[in-house]
Amino acid sequence: MNNATKKLLLMKKRKKKISSITAYDASFARVAEQANIDFILVGDSLGMVIQGCDNTHKVTVEEMVYHIKCVEKGVKNTPIMADLPRVALKNKKTAYSSVKKILKAGASIIKIEYQDKSFGLIEYLLKKKITVCCHLGLKPQFIKSSRDIKVHGKTNKSAKEIIAQADLLNSAGVSMILLECVDSKVAKFISKKVDIPVIGIGSGQHTDGQISVLYDLIGISKKIPSFAKNYLKNKNSVYSALKNYNQDVKK
Ligand code: KIV
Repeated sequence: MNNATKKLLLMKKRKKKISSITAYDASFARVAEQANIDFILVGDSLGMVIQGCDNTHKVTVEEMVYHIKCVEKGVKNTPIMADLPRVALKNKKTAYSSVKKILKAGASIIKIEYQDKSFGLIEYLLKKKITVCCHLGLKPQFIKSSRDIKVHGKTNKSAKEIIAQADLLNSAGVSMILLECVDSKVAKFISKKVDIPVIGIGSGQHTDGQISVLYDLIGISKKIPSFAKNYLKNKNSVYSALKNYNQDVKK
């Protein structure tokens, strides 16, 4: 846990909702900070929304570093979380050296799309005092076909699996959990059960905070998920879109 996540933890304790969006460049990052968004994610979604690929699978560590540096130039004190891209997950050594590059570029929280087989890696990074957020539910890095794009935690078995993962990671010492497309009742349960902040996307209203892909909420992504709201519709600026999004989360 570092200062950024300590502040988010305090927000959870005080029942203040946490807002986050993705950004990939200095200008959007600057507007996000002006709109008081609590933290920015440099997501490997950049593979889709910036590079125009069909998925996030081939985003490199160097590309992540480039965009983190751009975002870092746009903010004064908004914490930056960044994805550890799929290509960095080959082994612990590659993962750790990639994490170091990402932190050096300006991120302070590393997000990892979690699979049970990567628990050893998470423990390893935690021992190295890395601040980690684990991404559960729908994990874009591991989508093989459109059948994998669904709400997770709808069956008893799948709900128990996600709850057990969240529990384990909370006890292991990760600083935050991100739930993507998780059944809202399960997301609510997890948010109450664990003491670290739980941030949701497409997982209902009851998580400790919300995250959105910026280009979804201003309506310009190629494929906009059904749960995403277009905050720019009938509004006149990116700033007012982010401000309205922030107010919605806080409510
Ligand atoms: O890469 C990304 O932008 C993400 C969000 C979908 C949370 O992981």
